[in-house]
Amino acid sequence: MKIAVIGTGYVGLVSAVCFAELGHDVYGVDIDEEKVAKLREGISPIYEPELEDLLKRNLEAGRVKFTTNLEEALPDTQVVFSAVATPPNEDFSADLKAVFIVAQSVAKYADHDIVFVNKSTVPVSTGEKCAEVIAKTLKDRGVDYNIPVVSNPEFLREGHAINDTMAPDRIVVGINGSDWAKKVMEELYVPLTRTSKPIVWMSRESSEIVKYASNGFLANKISFANMLSELCEATGGNVRDVTKGMGMDDRIGPRFLHSGIGYGGSCFPKDVKALIALSRETGVPLPLIQATHDINQHQRERYFKKILDVLPANATVGLLGLSFKPRTDDMREAPSLDLIPLLVKAGHTVRVHDPIAMDNAKTIVKEDVEWKDDAFSTAENADAVVVLTEWDEFRGLDLNKLKLTMKGSDLFDGRNIYEPDDARKAGLTYHGIGL
Ligand SMILES: NC(=O)c1ccc[n+]([C@@H]2O[C@H](COP(=O)([O-])OP(=O)(O)OC[C@H]3O[C@@H](n4cnc5c(N)ncnc54)[C@H](O)[C@@H]3O)[C@@H](O)[C@H]2O)c1
Repeated sequence: MKIAVIGTGYVGLVSAVCFAELGHDVYGVDIDEEKVAKLREGISPIYEPELEDLLKRNLEAGRVKFTTNLEEALPDTQVVFSAVATPPNEDFSADLKAVFIVAQSVAKYADHDIVFVNKSTVPVSTGEKCAEVIAKTLKDRGVDYNIPVVSNPEFLREGHAINDTMAPDRIVVGINGSDWAKKVMEELYVPLTRTSKPIVWMSRESSEIVKYASNGFLANKISFANMLSELCEATGGNVRDVTKGMGMDDRIGPRFLHSGIGYGGSCFPKDVKALIALSRETGVPLPLIQATHDINQHQRERYFKKILDVLPANATVGLLGLSFKPRTDDMREAPSLDLIPLLVKAGHTVRVHDPIAMDNAKTIVKEDVEWKDDAFSTAENADAVVVLTEWDEFRGLDLNKLKLTMKGSDLFDGRNIYEPDDARKAGLTYHGIGL
């Protein structure tokens, strides 16, 4: 099937190469010329395990192409995916400008019937608004193509995106009343449904809500664990034991029940914010979502305050990890971006290391920091070391060597990856969360 994916970021690029890998004929479209030039060379502009190999293989096979020109991608295309970003506005609502521009552009250049699919995370009723934009644009052109709007939200996790796309738990598709669109979507996903990956059909509105509900629920689980961490600190409990004891109940489950410095990244913060905005807009109270957001902010602030309170004046601090989570170079809403300015403003010297995200971080971090090649050069003569991202290579650090490398002894374990006793035996002063 011939498809186009508009927006070749974390979601669009992974979708484009995975659909190509599944045998479809795919055009990736992006307004970023530099990105498209790299993609044509087989270079992935983002870090995602396995992505570049898949990109190269499908470019060579001629199954995926890239362009900045939507008109070039549209002829004969049966399905157009919109995978542009929907970042938060100041008032927490989702910025949908790019989504509507894409819907309008598709209607402007279409010369046949096309199924238009929103893969971006968009608030409920955005599909309806896209349908209105498309209908108006077609009417202004005086043409009458059938361009139904479908919701097909994405559930991939950065760092596991290829596997999540090739072997999804479920494919959610929301369609309002187009049998043709349903048939096209069925055909598109045949390579996956044939291997028993289920499509869950529903209305467009339900599908739009499923995505926010899923992220809101997962973020809530993290905030629940973080809420408990403060209770444990005040009462002598150990949050790791508490969440382990809870998580072994299969009605609760252990995943996303870990306390730390709170969630970050491109999805949880913005989707929780968008739900808060939706609550305001609809008048429907969503108190669990507001609490999820407030706890996340509070958790980050109270841990950072602890770090600042412990540090001596003019300290040297080594930060391990810059990306918002391991296995990605994504820096969006990463805790490092909040902590670095606080430390620099307080007069401390900041050294940083991340196994993958350094290049991306260098384009974002404005403060004067020292960029280091590994954990030990980051820790050398430092008064304190702070773990911000639980990369595997930090989990196995030799804590005795770390202590010998440092000048001071404070180890802030923002991800609870070390055993407090191991750190203490190595002579470190251990500061975990909820322990
Ligand atoms: N990143 C994730 O892990 C993830 C997971 C699930 C869902 N989502 C959702 O998917 C959507 C995309 O997220 P992302 O992380 O891939 O964003 P991104 O910022 O990485 O990518 C967006 C891309 O769209 C391009 N773009 C913007 N306007 C365009 C236009 N008019 N025409 C063509 N290209 C245009 C940008 O240049 C960029 O390359 C968001 O709604 C997000 O919430 C993201």
